[in-house]
Amino acid sequence: MDTILGRKVLRFDAVESTNDTAKELLGGDADEGTVIVAERQVAGRGRHGRAWFSPPGGLYCSVVLKPGDTSVTMLGLVSGMPVVKALRHWSVLATLKWPNDVVIRNRKIGGVLCEGVYRQDAFWVVAGIGVNTNVSLDRLPAEVRGTATSLKAETDVEVSNEEFLEYMLREFDKVYKASKSSARNVLARDYMALCSTIRQQVAVETPQGTVRGTAIEVTSQGALVLMDDAGKRVEVADGSVSPSSIR
Ligand code: BTN
Repeated sequence: MDTILGRKVLRFDAVESTNDTAKELLGGDADEGTVIVAERQVAGRGRHGRAWFSPPGGLYCSVVLKPGDTSVTMLGLVSGMPVVKALRHWSVLATLKWPNDVVIRNRKIGGVLCEGVYRQDAFWVVAGIGVNTNVSLDRLPAEVRGTATSLKAETDVEVSNEEFLEYMLREFDKVYKASKSSARNVLARDYMALCSTIRQQVAVETPQGTVRGTAIEVTSQGALVLMDDAGKRVEVADGSVSPSSIR
């Protein structure tokens, strides 16, 4: 079957944010499957308005997706899976912290920022992926150094970002195609197998307030399901997860 993702790769030395470059090129130079890669970003963005520090050595890319009827939330989840698979291929036993923080031993090594964009009636999703591959931790600002890690710091090995990207895109292509098929419950199950949030006691900060409980599953729409202290099932569509002690 033809590969969709990575059939066109546009490389840049430095950009503000690869997500912004992808959005500017949408419908022109960038079509479904186009990947924008930059050596560094001067204004890399993370979820919830946070910055994504992007020194040289890391992998910064954005993949242009056409979601069809897959929810943007689910695509956000799907986009984290290939990052975990690629890191595992390079011996880092990473997991996903719902929705798509890529972590190892509670330290963040990668992240995904999925943004939906309308252009002349067409709906696109730009999946921005940042991975601390060959990043020395002392190149990161003090405020994230204590909670971040990199492939280089974990394994003492430098990888080729090009090979890492190639591997990651091959894995991404498989899950992207699955997300377009009817097998979305299978995809949610595959996601959960990589997600370390499941079965944990968590607190989720949502725009409506904090929800606490045990994470029990992820729906085929990408929502996290918690069982709260009263035994009630609560679905959360977006938020920031942190561990919560048993009370
Ligand atoms: C997060 O964990 O908060 C998401 C981080 C996403 C960072 C990537 S780097 C490539 C792309 N361009 C951006 O500005 N952000 C994403």
